[in-house]
Amino acid sequence: MQLLAISGSARAASTNTALLRALQHIAPAGLAIEVFHDLAALPVFSPDLEGALTPAPVLALVQQVQAADGLLISSPEYVRALPGGLKNAIDWLVSREEIIQKPVALVHASHRGDDMLADLRRVLSTVTAQFNSDLFLRLPLMKESAASVLQIVSGAEVYPEAQQFLQDFATFCGCARTA
Ligand SMILES: Cc1cc2nc3c(=O)[nH]c(=O)nc-3n(C[C@H](O)[C@H](O)[C@H](O)COP(=O)(O)O)c2cc1C
Repeated sequence: MQLLAISGSARAASTNTALLRALQHIAPAGLAIEVFHDLAALPVFSPDLEGALTPAPVLALVQQVQAADGLLISSPEYVRALPGGLKNAIDWLVSREEIIQKPVALVHASHRGDDMLADLRRVLSTVTAQFNSDLFLRLPLMKESAASVLQIVSGAEVYPEAQQFLQDFATFCGCARTA
């Protein structure tokens, strides 16, 4: 099974990207996680550029989404909402068939950001019939380094919860695939 993990942060030292990379590191056997953290490569969405004119970086993301059995998304909150870069990526996907039945779950690297989470949940329930708001992994990792995020996620306190989350989401994706 293959997951695509999309970070909503373009920051090199992003804790959300680090969390997704840590999950990639501890993923159970049989579950491969690819991390996408290049939202900055996508041009600003315009309906004029859909179809034959779709830009190459968008097509590359679409292919990754298509190949994935499910999407994990982890995002910071910017100005009490979801970051523009992440919304832009979702705007590119929204009128395409690759997203409409794609299983999606959220993870979150902060104890803050509830406005963004509410926003993102509303947007994701609009674009896919398989957004699972019950599956959610939240860890207070704000300002931690990538090395420390990996250490925390691999540590005895968090590892079982993170493994369980990944296994539950993989099961959900498997059920969606056979439905
Ligand atoms: C432009 C900007 C706006 C932000 N707005 C908020 C906000 O409204 N609420 C909040 O809790 N944090 C806000 N933050 C803090 C980030 O959400 C927080 O630092 C997050 O953990 C960063 O995630 P990252 O490490 O993945 O980049 C903001 C940060 C930036 C740079």
